[in-house]
Amino acid sequence: MYYPEEIIEEVRVQNDIVDLISEYVTLKKKGNSYFGLCPFHNEKTASFSVSQEKQMYYCFGCGAGGNVITFVMEKENYNFVETIQLLAQKRNIELPKAQYSEKAQKEIKKRQSLLNIHKDTGRYFYSNLQQEEGREAREYLSKRELSTEVQRKFGLGYAKGNHYDLYNYLKNRGYNDQLILESGLVIKSKTGPGCYDRFSDRLMFPIFDVHGRVIAFGGRVLDGSMPKYLNSPETILFEKNANLYGLNYARVARKKEIFIVEGYMDFIAMYQAGIHNVVASLGTAFTKGHANLIKRYADEVILLYDSDEAGIRATIRAIPILQAANIKVRVLHLPKGQDPDDYIIERGAESLIELGSNAVGAVTFQIQMIKTKYNMENIEQKIRFIDEVSDLIAGLSNAIEQEIYIQQVSKIYNIEADALKTEVRKQMQKEQNKNKNISINKIKNKRDINKNTKAEEGYFKTQSELLQIMCLYPSVLIEVKKHLLPEDFIDPFFQKLVGLIYEKQIDGHITNPSQFTSFFETSEEQQKVANIFLAQKEYENKEMITKVINDTVKKLKNKAIEEELKTTKDIEKLQKLLKAKKEVDNLYIDCIYG
Ligand code: GTP
Ligand code: MN
Repeated sequence: MYYPEEIIEEVRVQNDIVDLISEYVTLKKKGNSYFGLCPFHNEKTASFSVSQEKQMYYCFGCGAGGNVITFVMEKENYNFVETIQLLAQKRNIELPKAQYSEKAQKEIKKRQSLLNIHKDTGRYFYSNLQQEEGREAREYLSKRELSTEVQRKFGLGYAKGNHYDLYNYLKNRGYNDQLILESGLVIKSKTGPGCYDRFSDRLMFPIFDVHGRVIAFGGRVLDGSMPKYLNSPETILFEKNANLYGLNYARVARKKEIFIVEGYMDFIAMYQAGIHNVVASLGTAFTKGHANLIKRYADEVILLYDSDEAGIRATIRAIPILQAANIKVRVLHLPKGQDPDDYIIERGAESLIELGSNAVGAVTFQIQMIKTKYNMENIEQKIRFIDEVSDLIAGLSNAIEQEIYIQQVSKIYNIEADALKTEVRKQMQKEQNKNKNISINKIKNKRDINKNTKAEEGYFKTQSELLQIMCLYPSVLIEVKKHLLPEDFIDPFFQKLVGLIYEKQIDGHITNPSQFTSFFETSEEQQKVANIFLAQKEYENKEMITKVINDTVKKLKNKAIEEELKTTKDIEKLQKLLKAKKEVDNLYIDCIYG
């Protein structure tokens, strides 16, 4: 969905930032700004400021900042379009309807109908649970200590035992066979013409997407029969490796870490016990898709799988997938034979939280698991243990980390640290020989990348500084505009921002800087914009400012020229470029401050 600029601006202007943020944070007026406790990090003194005049916020503690749109995106974890829709709704602004192709319209309609089927089904199952037929299921739930409040919150329900109940219900509500079949909630009979329900006589768990819409179901038997759980098949609503049960709740818990558990019951037990930063992988293998999904909401994961063999295997498999997505992994290993639900019922949530603070790092867990395979009393087995552990340590990218684990293993398993070190080095050598050529290239690339990012950071700072001064002093903006084109700035972010500044300035004045934020879709970019306009530096004197301006303008202009010089072979052009370079060197911008 794409909304025109004017509409976005209308939505932004109609939602006053002080009013909106006041719904989340208690603000006090101090001078020209409002201050409060930052909702994005923990603090005791108010360093979160909101400027009504600029319609922006900025936290001097953690650097969070932006306009009203950024705030909603960050606070509610919404994307840009969702945020515009929410803010428009608040102010009764009608948004234009999208123009879609006929095929796309059909697709959207189908999705909507499937969502409706799931919503209706969820309500139906829920009401079944409250009726006489749902008694056994209710008793089961109370036996498992789930409060009625939590049952309602997660929409738990009951699918009746007769095999056509849901099918008939959906037919009566006017859904056609094709759509009902496509929902996966009923199955086409192989022997006869009709359809029958996928779930019967089961306790039902609706599965939600990140927006809390029901997109599938899981059903558990009430006795010991098999299979214990049945889940909806994949449909256009339900992609198994793009979904984690409970993420719609975990993402608003806004913790830096998320627990991953295996089952529905584990998730709900933890939620009921007050631990809300948790998702369940529903017994499916953990994938890259899951890791990327989590990465959007947390930097760290605590794997809390069942302590049986399957759980340990799943943990070992999930670790490298999470690490590859740059997520820090810790592992919480429960006492033998338990899952989080059992543990909470037996020892309470506090005990689990306490245990959580002892969760070990992924490497320590991997070493512990290697240990379980060997009998350390037996010399040969101990050697194999050392072999496997050195291999693991050799694979760590950081020398300090390697040293820490060498010391740790040496102490715990009573192995000479020097001997272990030698083994680790040997393994590294082996590894290096194996992919000598590949690694040489990789290291070279890495160096280049490091060098590049350093230089980029430098350019980011100088360009930000220049923009800050330009926006502070109208005369500077007017002067710089004469010498620097938007294209002269280094990356697309600055080119776009400068283009906007040039376009919107009037006689060097910028009336409302907040408008620029909404032209950027990601919150990182929005943050950068806020940073430039709100985190202004104090300059001691005019000379200092003049120096910054001249240095930066020259640096930017020269960079563009030098780039061209490198590739040009045409003599005439070369001469032109050299002449331009000379002009830049002689350039002096004298700014009169207004
Ligand atoms: P309880 O036994 O009720 O405590 O459930 P649990 O959540 O502890 O289940 P368990 O640890 O056995 O399994 C973890 C998850 O794997 C479940 O929540 C299901 O999502 C899934 N699962 C378990 N058994 C089956 C099965 O037989 N079929 C399918 N498709 N999924 C299953
Ligand atoms: Mn269980």
